[in-house]
Amino acid sequence: MNDVSENTYLENINKAKTTDELKKIEIELLGRNGVINNLLKKIKDIPPDQKREYGQKVNSLKKKIEEKIEEKKQILKKNSTKSFFDKTLPGKTYPKGSLHPLTYIIEEIAEIFSSLGFIRVSYPEVEWEYFSFEALNMPKGHPARDDFETFFIDFPENKQYGKMVLSPHTSSGQNREMKRTTPPIRMINIAKTYRPNWDTTHTPMFHQFEGLCIDKNINITHLKGTINYFVKKFFGPKRTIRLRPAHFQFTEPSFEIDVSCGVCGGTGEINNKKCKVCKSGWLELAGAGMVHPNVLKAGGIDVNKYSGWAFGFGPERCMMMREEMAIDDIRILYSGDIRFLENF
Ligand code: PHE
Repeated sequence: MNDVSENTYLENINKAKTTDELKKIEIELLGRNGVINNLLKKIKDIPPDQKREYGQKVNSLKKKIEEKIEEKKQILKKNSTKSFFDKTLPGKTYPKGSLHPLTYIIEEIAEIFSSLGFIRVSYPEVEWEYFSFEALNMPKGHPARDDFETFFIDFPENKQYGKMVLSPHTSSGQNREMKRTTPPIRMINIAKTYRPNWDTTHTPMFHQFEGLCIDKNINITHLKGTINYFVKKFFGPKRTIRLRPAHFQFTEPSFEIDVSCGVCGGTGEINNKKCKVCKSGWLELAGAGMVHPNVLKAGGIDVNKYSGWAFGFGPERCMMMREEMAIDDIRILYSGDIRFLENF
């Protein structure tokens, strides 16, 4: 008894092609006159101090052989049923995939603006500092840059455009659009944006959509009218907007845009109690304003001839506000959790 013979026994079991063949091997190995029994019989010739070790070896070999035979039996059994193909069985249905919920929202937003003549564009997600900041009236070292916390890419700095970044807002597309084309401009830029935040209301990757309108005699009423149209189409005809003064370096004047709350109807109260969703009747929706002359100039646009406005929204926020989704952690959107995604 040695490793070579052990391997041969196990290999022979493995090679058996039918249950009959296997049965024969089983008798040869485990039968009354089989290999194992013969080995056991020989114990009487083994010196007394080695009997114990010898016995253990034979038993362990026996166990291995038994296990292998059992395993092979199962395999042969399985294979013998496999060849039967029952064509009357019902077919398998495979799970149907769908687009990510936010993709549907983005398509819808693009369509609403397209019906107003806005052209959908896309610009680099991996962008230069220049387009994210300088071109937007935020020179190097300007504190307003801190509002757009930024991921920097490990890449040699460009003399003209500075460091490489992950675009922290879709406003980086403004200068590129002004250089790509000439007024009249009606741009809708929907893209991924990145800022290093990770909590229940922030993911490091999120989306924005940026509207830019540049033409002769463009003023705030056009901005209000456009956003009003979007809000009624997207949130429903009863919803209204309001503009609050704000500050952005690239627009002057600047506004925050609020939309009336759909839960309390903009009153801020339900049955004399504060509305839990909005607390005030209004929900913050977007930043906007008239494009700053420095931004127009950086884009090569004649400020004596043209004026324009811009706005920036978050589609994730729009989606959650419209569907009245009870999401207490926005990170679920990008967790890849199929149980969540299957709801859409
Ligand atoms: N880019 C701004 C932000 O990310 C939003 C904005 C866009 C404000 C366009 C004004 C005009 O917060």
